[in-house]
Amino acid sequence: MARLSPPPVEVYRGARENRAMFDRIAHRYDLMNRVLTLGLDGRWRRRAVAALGLAPGSLVVDLACGTGMLCNEAQRARLRCVGFDVAAGMLAHSHTSAPLVRADILRLPLADGGADGAVCGFALRNVGDIPGCLRETARVLRPGGRIGLLEVAEPENPILRRGHALYFRRVVPLVGGLLCDRDAYRYLPASASWLPDPAELLAMLRDAGFTAVERRALGGGGAQLLTGTRA
Ligand SMILES: C[S@@+](CC[C@H](N)C(=O)[O-])C[C@H]1O[C@@H](n2cnc3c(N)ncnc32)[C@H](O)[C@@H]1O
Repeated sequence: MARLSPPPVEVYRGARENRAMFDRIAHRYDLMNRVLTLGLDGRWRRRAVAALGLAPGSLVVDLACGTGMLCNEAQRARLRCVGFDVAAGMLAHSHTSAPLVRADILRLPLADGGADGAVCGFALRNVGDIPGCLRETARVLRPGGRIGLLEVAEPENPILRRGHALYFRRVVPLVGGLLCDRDAYRYLPASASWLPDPAELLAMLRDAGFTAVERRALGGGGAQLLTGTRA
């Protein structure tokens, strides 16, 4: 069987270029998410919020909130939510009543231990320093606070894995190019190649100060939900 060529881009572009890319695609971001996840992302976001297991009224931060889709899920679960993102374009195209703040999640403008929970949707691989981001999140969570991180993943089943690679490396850039921005939708799937593997991500969570860390595969393994409790 012919092998797929490696992802077309394998280098992290850096914060400034990343931000400019999200500003460029912001107007179509929500639509592209729905189309490219075949409508599954809404269900995954609900799982991430539910996995926090927090009482109504708890304060949750949405890290790299983009257009605020996770904020909306948190609010539907009767949680209070504040979103943080560096891309002004993404924030400008938000559809949420949650307060959104333009800020770097590596330096959150929040007091130590002030939040009950944190969620992050598909942004870890866009943050240059994942361990730093997890440590910063641990700083703002109270002891017993919960974290729920959604990210892309590779299915373990070899057949699903191959189908997924084909979809991610061929279909996503093609559809993304037709409907939005070819360069961005070549880069975004390729950026999965520098996402640490699941065991490493769980170790990073532990090192950052989380206990009871767990990983659940979603969507046949094409996505993952990582959770933990602030020690
Ligand atoms: C793939 S989008 C995900 C958006 C949203 N979380 C969601 O679930 O749809 C990645 C987001 O991460 C943001 N981002 C990347 N690095 C960041 C950082 N250091 N601080 C804050 N936001 C960041 C980008 O601006 C972009 O909005």
